[in-house]
Amino acid sequence: MNVLLLGSGGREHTLAWKIAQSKLLSHLFIAPGNAGTANHGTNVDLDLTNFETIARFLLDMKIEMLVVGPEQPLVDGLYDYLKSNKSTENIRIVGMNRYGAQLEGSKDFAKTFMQKNQIPTAKYQSFDQHQVEQGIEFLKSLNAPYVLKADGLAAGKGVLILNNLDEAISELQNMLLHSKFGAAGNIVVIEEFLQGIELSAFILTDGKDYLLLPEAKDYKRIGVGDTGLNTGGMGSISPVPFADKAFMEKVEHRIIKPTVKGLQSEGFEYTGFVFIGLMNVNGNPYVIEYNVRLGDPETESVIPRIESDLLEVFNALFNGKLTNLKLEINPNYTCTVIMVSGGYPEKYEKGKLISGLRLIENSMVFHAGTLSDDDDQVFSNGGRVLAITSMDTSLEKAIEKSYKSIAKLKYEGHYFRTDIGKDLL
Ligand code: AMP
Ligand code: GLY
Repeated sequence: MNVLLLGSGGREHTLAWKIAQSKLLSHLFIAPGNAGTANHGTNVDLDLTNFETIARFLLDMKIEMLVVGPEQPLVDGLYDYLKSNKSTENIRIVGMNRYGAQLEGSKDFAKTFMQKNQIPTAKYQSFDQHQVEQGIEFLKSLNAPYVLKADGLAAGKGVLILNNLDEAISELQNMLLHSKFGAAGNIVVIEEFLQGIELSAFILTDGKDYLLLPEAKDYKRIGVGDTGLNTGGMGSISPVPFADKAFMEKVEHRIIKPTVKGLQSEGFEYTGFVFIGLMNVNGNPYVIEYNVRLGDPETESVIPRIESDLLEVFNALFNGKLTNLKLEINPNYTCTVIMVSGGYPEKYEKGKLISGLRLIENSMVFHAGTLSDDDDQVFSNGGRVLAITSMDTSLEKAIEKSYKSIAKLKYEGHYFRTDIGKDLL
């Protein structure tokens, strides 16, 4: 079959690499893709906000399956658009409709869903611009640190964690009265702070059954020792040592099953991934957030551990056969280290020539923000540039391999964290 994959990051390069290995694949297109995805299919320059051109491309190229990497097209209603059009309604879409995408697109919607379905999460209340006083009262009833979240999508920047009550009150006012995060902050969710270690769990679901994928841990801050600004993600590892059988049983029982049951009972139209951001609080899992896609850079650690044919897995999703499917998982450890542009996540420069790519032997290099020229030279083209993933029989060995490979890769101003996975050794 012909497949179109949407997106252009390390997640999409990893998915393209995996889909290209499927025996069911005829041709893979990636839109817009990057220098890495071009090695596994044809990059096409489609505007992901223009649904009409996407639909025309799907028809022209006889695409049978559309895999949506990032959340934005789903939140914008791409699924609904294609399903409501006679000519495209039968195309299989790994993704969900606009309603379901609110699980990621609106934190208030997600919290309401969790509350309704008795899924453990931090205590919270939501406030709009007419409820600033009530918001302040609620803040006063909590203990520091204070967690404020813009309701809508804010490019991963909409969550503030503040140690001081006055600061929290002033940020609440900035968000509700002075549009700090634009329309995304028209509603603010204030929630209780959860103290623990984070973990990313992933399922593939048709809204009735689900398949649990390997879990991962993501390293979000820019600095060594989890310091400094939040980023899109600086590295990941899988499996996660503290996510043992007992903990993952709690995750399935308390969180995943009620989540899928909620999707079903509320009539969600859902054929895709759910990424559940969890906090392990003294051995008990709480949901921090839902995403309607795979995580990045978790995908770079998780997908290489899946040995099953990914298009066969997607077929099972669409044929209602998920429960019978036995996902083959490699028991080895993966470690992914992200190389970023100097200055990221603040201002940074692009267009730096990357050297050393051909010297890498013991790791996989997934491209994020890259671009190649006619001579096959590769240049940086974003904040996150490369994801270096290695696999080995122990976490320690996987980490070591990734850092040995990274030492061979160079471009002006490159930066990476030197401590990915080491807190778990
Ligand atoms: P989110 O965008 O909801 O994933 O939040 C971004 C990050 O903020 C999370 O990955 C956590 O590290 C942190 N965070 C969010 N909510 C809480 C909470 N209730 N308690 C502690 N940390 C949180
Ligand atoms: N790694 C976190 C995310 O993809 O949102």
